[in-house]
Amino acid sequence: MNLFDNTPFLVADPDLADWGRKEIVIAEKEMPGLMAIRRKYGDSKPLKGARITGSLHMTIQTAVLIETLVELGADVRWASCNIFSTQDHAAAAVAARGIPVFAWKGESLTEYWECTFRALKHRESGPHLIVDDGGDASLLVHKGLEMEKGDKWVDTSSDSEEEDIIKKLLKKVRMEDDHFWRRVTESLQGISEETTTGVNRLYRMAREKTLLVPAINVNDSVTKSKFDNKYGCRESLADGIKRATDVMIAGKTVVICGFGDVGKGCAESMRGLGAKVIINEIDPICALQAAMAGYVVKPIEDSLKEGDIFVTATGNRDIIRLEHMMKMKDHAICCNIGHFDNEIQISRLKAMEGVERTEVKPQVDLYTFPDGHSIFILAEGRLVNLGCATGHPSFVMSCSFSNQVLAQMDLWERGKERDVSVYTLPRKLDEEVAALHLEHLGVKLSKLNEEQAEYIGVTVDGPFKPGHYRY
Ligand SMILES: NC(=O)c1ccc[n+]([C@@H]2O[C@H](COP(=O)([O-])OP(=O)(O)OC[C@H]3O[C@@H](n4cnc5c(N)ncnc54)[C@H](O)[C@@H]3O)[C@@H](O)[C@H]2O)c1
Repeated sequence: MNLFDNTPFLVADPDLADWGRKEIVIAEKEMPGLMAIRRKYGDSKPLKGARITGSLHMTIQTAVLIETLVELGADVRWASCNIFSTQDHAAAAVAARGIPVFAWKGESLTEYWECTFRALKHRESGPHLIVDDGGDASLLVHKGLEMEKGDKWVDTSSDSEEEDIIKKLLKKVRMEDDHFWRRVTESLQGISEETTTGVNRLYRMAREKTLLVPAINVNDSVTKSKFDNKYGCRESLADGIKRATDVMIAGKTVVICGFGDVGKGCAESMRGLGAKVIINEIDPICALQAAMAGYVVKPIEDSLKEGDIFVTATGNRDIIRLEHMMKMKDHAICCNIGHFDNEIQISRLKAMEGVERTEVKPQVDLYTFPDGHSIFILAEGRLVNLGCATGHPSFVMSCSFSNQVLAQMDLWERGKERDVSVYTLPRKLDEEVAALHLEHLGVKLSKLNEEQAEYIGVTVDGPFKPGHYRY
């Protein structure tokens, strides 16, 4: 297929659209934040004229985000940010509305990057705004422009199969149109980023002065990372492990690597189901938090013989190494909930001589070592909650995605005036996002009076906390 053809959409099965639509309608009820934003801005269309590219898991919840952006006036194109995370009925329903979506569950890496490219190519140019999750769409744009300006990265040898695929794609684009990325970056005016790992990439680019446009760190809105990362994973980790293996978690020992926002949710989830939980941490503050929450804290090397289930949640690389897997119990389950698949050394596992892989079902593999013991690897080491289940529930994604929409509106209105840097949304908006989700849960807020507000140094309508407050 020619990358530059004008294929309107690419999904697994357009006939799944009706089923997808029914689930989208159900999700809308559970996403009060997004629906309130539609009611508030649907008429004024604040995103009118904005070309938006999304690179974010193509799930039912994301369909509600996409349709909110469209209702606010945007011209949207979408790809998933993971080869296993698309819900095919969601993609089909979005495509049936005439929105160009390029995503299906089980893409190859080459297909994945081509889908990202198709989502970025708005006719002859690119998007004004990017909704990114993990930074892949932004990476393609930045590397593309560097190549057109003479950088030789595309001609260097690669550390991974994926890096090689990205370089090949960029060279293919250059053959067709050697000014493509210049045009894309001329119109680009902002990026909003969903997750911890993508945000880390943005801050690095800002430090190295390679970031091209202003970016909004959506992850660090309180109503995103302290909710989605924690309470979302508290539900979707167990969902992923259960759908993949049906294993009984009560009584088992679960090793969670990383006790940040995601790790905290994962640990609570496993403990709630009756598991003994061991935490690995490198940060003394998080290690102390884990200890005081009652978890055992020790390095992975000391947890290998005990662990029945291992979960990486660090956003770091090489957390579970081949040497670790070789020492695990027979039928230990290994999975990752961090953004990228380099937390578990799957490529070293696959390359090890004498290791046999048996596919139990899609996204569940049993690897048998030469000594006879086997371990399960879920979703090939990619995020287990989206690879083996359907990601977080709608309600918590409504909080995350309300922040995304507000970030996109901010970048469309002010992106051109802002200095190139990474911003977070103001606390007042964070409080507004939370407020939009209270009624659905029957929450009634107490109200400050003037004297009380004066006494604690805030106003009666908020913001209720100073900027340095940590929730
Ligand atoms: N699957 C999902 O639905 C989902 C949702 C949100 C975030 N994420 C991703 O999950 C990952 C973690 O996100 P987070 O918000 O919890 O990040 P975080 O920074 O809050 O937590 C990561 C923790 O891992 C620890 N860590 C780093 N290296 C380690 C090592 N070698 N051994 C042990 N611990 C180590 C850090 O000290 C930190 O406390 C990121 O990749 C993020 O993008 C996934």
